Amino acid sequence: MIHGIPPVALVLAGLLLSPGAEASGTRDPASVKLPAMTPALNLGKMNYDAKCASCHGRNGAGTDKGPTFLHRVYHPGHHGDGAFYLAPKRGARAHHWPFGDMPPVEGITDAQIEKIVPYIRALQKANGIF
Ligand code: HEC
Repeated sequence: MIHGIPPVALVLAGLLLSPGAEASGTRDPASVKLPAMTPALNLGKMNYDAKCASCHGRNGAGTDKGPTFLHRVYHPGHHGDGAFYLAPKRGARAHHWPFGDMPPVEGITDAQIEKIVPYIRALQKANGIF
């Protein structure tokens, strides 16, 4: 017997697709908690602000051009540090969000990423993502 799609499946799909803070890929910048800064984290922030913030937002809150990093999708267990070295060099195909592809970041170096990653992890930690 074929009954088509069971109503419960439609309800579940609706829940998964409904836009909300969780699904939008950005966060209210005012809700972001800041980590205790150290000289090393300040260097990371400087590099992040120069190379990533135009899309990923100040303090990692996201913009209309790129997702927030303060989301469990970017938890170290899901996007390990390796992803943070690859994406800026090779770019990333849109697959989690509707922002479009991430283009390679021009002129980015491993030395800069090495400073940026601990800064992003510190922001995540301060916001309960670790
Ligand atoms: C021009 C805009 C833009 C800039 C600049 C940018 N990103 Fe992205 N980034 C994006 C978008 C859009 C995505 C989301 C792709 C998707 O839908 O999953 C993304 C995704 C990522 C991801 C996840 C990749 C994956 O494997 O899923 C990482 C890691 C990342 N960015 C790191 C960085 C870092 C680090 C910088 C700065 C050095 C940076 N990005 C600069 C737009 C940008």
